[in-house]
Amino acid sequence: MSVRHACVIGHPVTHSRSPAIHKYWLAEHGIAGDYGREDVAPSSIAAFLARFADSGYVGANVTVPHKEAAFAAAEADAVSRELGAVNTLWLEDRLLLGTNTDVHGFLANLDERQPHWGERTRSAVVLGAGGAARAILYGLLERGVKRIALINRTQARANALATHFGSGVRPAGFGELNAAIADADLMINATSLGMEGAPPLAVDIAALKPGAVVYDIVYAPLETALLKGARARGHPVVDGLGMLLHQAAPAFERFFGVRPRVTSALRQHVLADMGAQR
Ligand code: ATR
Repeated sequence: MSVRHACVIGHPVTHSRSPAIHKYWLAEHGIAGDYGREDVAPSSIAAFLARFADSGYVGANVTVPHKEAAFAAAEADAVSRELGAVNTLWLEDRLLLGTNTDVHGFLANLDERQPHWGERTRSAVVLGAGGAARAILYGLLERGVKRIALINRTQARANALATHFGSGVRPAGFGELNAAIADADLMINATSLGMEGAPPLAVDIAALKPGAVVYDIVYAPLETALLKGARARGHPVVDGLGMLLHQAAPAFERFFGVRPRVTSALRQHVLADMGAQR
């Protein structure tokens, strides 16, 4: 049997954790496969994807800034059409197919870390209005969250997303944060703020409803200032590493034919890999 190769496509792509995750699962399942990185400049991505069937790869994960280009190049399924973005590509009879596993990653991580969140969550606050926020809104609405306040620096982006998702999503600015979080059962940071190398997320959560879950999609550092502050106030917290791990599982299954498990040993492996890169 031939060795199956997959990769992550991005620009830059050096810091992607996807090779560590997929290689761990390849070893765990004794699969003769490999997983690499492809740094493709924005000017070359359309041509790269047009030739993908001849690349030798069986599939690819797609990261920033190429998820929209992947959507344009692939036969996209329903969830990726809703998001306008593809993060997983694979070939079937030389046809390039695409899906988006970010919604699954977001929800599976929340289900794992806070199994009863759904029963308790009527109202949520989402910070950010980029691609990640879009996947999160889709997931929350799919699970029946009725009221979502969408807070973003650039009001036009929040307005556009709220229009797309309908009356359950209310756009707001950071000035309205206190009023929004006083009523929220779940607060999610879907901005890049608080990530290593980015500015901090400077929000005061003193007004947050007692017992509300705080979820930060940032995973480097693993415990962001937001999560540290929330934990100190007694809020249940969810970090972003599990979202990364869970979004990779359905992709691995497409590439290599086995559905892998997200375990604490995998978490430790990826954390060690992140430490080694610093
Ligand atoms: P992704 O696809 O990962 O969500 P993105 O589309 O670049 O990335 O979105 C990044 C999010 O972080 C946006 O909500 C962005 O706010 P704007 O829409 O106003 O740009 C938010 N963000 C990034 N840097 C920020 C900053 N310094 N202050 C406030 N919000 C910021």
